[in-house]
Amino acid sequence: MAGARGTWNSSFGFIMAAVGSAVGLGNLVRFPRELAENGGAAFLFVYLILLLLVGLPAILGEMSIGKMTQMSPVNAFRKLGGEHGKKWAVIGVAGMLAAMFVLFFYTVMTGWTLRFFLGGITGAWFDDPSGYYGDIAYGPATIFWHLLVSIITVYIVSRGISGGIEKVTVIIIPALFAILIGIVLYAAFQPGAIDGYKELFDPDFSELTPNNIAAATGQVFFSLSLGQGAMLTYASYMDKKQSVSKDGTTIALADTGVALMAGMMVFPVLAFTGLLASNDPAVQEALGGSFGTAFIALPNAFVAMGDVMGRIVGTVFFLGLFFAALSSAISLMEVPTSVLIDRFELPRWKSAVLIGLITYSFGVVSSINETWFTLYDEIAINVFIVLGVAFTTFFAGWVAKGVGKELDSGLRSRVGVYIVWLMRTVTPVAILAVFFFGGLFGTGADGGIEFWANDAGWNRLWRELKLGFGFE
Ligand code: PHE
Repeated sequence: MAGARGTWNSSFGFIMAAVGSAVGLGNLVRFPRELAENGGAAFLFVYLILLLLVGLPAILGEMSIGKMTQMSPVNAFRKLGGEHGKKWAVIGVAGMLAAMFVLFFYTVMTGWTLRFFLGGITGAWFDDPSGYYGDIAYGPATIFWHLLVSIITVYIVSRGISGGIEKVTVIIIPALFAILIGIVLYAAFQPGAIDGYKELFDPDFSELTPNNIAAATGQVFFSLSLGQGAMLTYASYMDKKQSVSKDGTTIALADTGVALMAGMMVFPVLAFTGLLASNDPAVQEALGGSFGTAFIALPNAFVAMGDVMGRIVGTVFFLGLFFAALSSAISLMEVPTSVLIDRFELPRWKSAVLIGLITYSFGVVSSINETWFTLYDEIAINVFIVLGVAFTTFFAGWVAKGVGKELDSGLRSRVGVYIVWLMRTVTPVAILAVFFFGGLFGTGADGGIEFWANDAGWNRLWRELKLGFGFE
């Protein structure tokens, strides 16, 4: 179907779709959890520095590759790679696989948000929020919700860029922002909320180990949807007149804004409902562990708000969470779908269904087994994505021709050379340093930094791998 790649209808549509990709469970579930786990404001501080030095050049590099070629990831790397294009195309293949890997658990989690939203309407989780999460998180019923989300995602992607993705995101993303701003403001006016801000903005720099810095890097990349061709693919449908520098910065700002809003919602809400200070071991554990902040602690807080208010705020929150997750899942699905369309000339709907079938099948495992869920999550974020960003940025800086010019187009000042310089030096070096040191070192038993400590990234990953395959 030559010429049928599709384009965005408007630049607003593109921004909404791309912000929809960036803003997701990463911002609203993962970010508050990482904050709570890695030293609060100290983590935030590192996060913002990494965003500027590493995240921003990386998103601009990825978008430039997409916009310059107007191709899906594999073809794009191939074209810009010149005579070694075939080898460079591996980055695109890896990115496409990474996107599918993320989908293996992402649609499962999107299913949780849908169930919490519907459960808010019916009041299903009001008697026992912690028990509800335990009931729905993993199990045969979860497979059904994962299937439903997969079908919705495939359907939207199969309708195309402007006819499907853009149509949906221009509605749900503004709605999401309205919901978040509403809850942040509501929380701000409750007595006791102040303790939440204190917790959020009080840095504990002693918690800044290499491992936590690595966690912040992974979080920046995951949150900006980098390293797996999502931003590249979306940018490939941009109008030639749009500016990568402007739009990329807008997307990064909106994404960071939402992460901050998530913090300014979660912490005050937990504070004014008394949960932050509560001694309830279940709540304290939920605050520290995996997805408990969003799916256990917050629902408990909603219940504590009382019957009417709690029900309204809780239901609306999970609707927003569903919108955020769905728009990200759509972008993840679009990456491999676009590759099949471009490379094998399959019709869009066939490609989407095929990819949906694959990601659904692997996701069945993470629907019923938490170990595998965690494994997909850790491998995708700590290995695939980090390496994907390092190679993509290196490629944009050193191999691809014309990135600087692309970054200057539509701007009055010449910023391209500086950004390309970052892409060539600081960004890849920082990523690889974090990848190796963060993976090898962690907090030892005495609290100091130790080689191959128990919480060191690769040691943890290795343990989980053995667990996943049943060797432990
Ligand atoms: N950025 C999304 C989030 O924060 C996740 C995502 C990663 C989406 C990669 C697309 C590509 O939840």
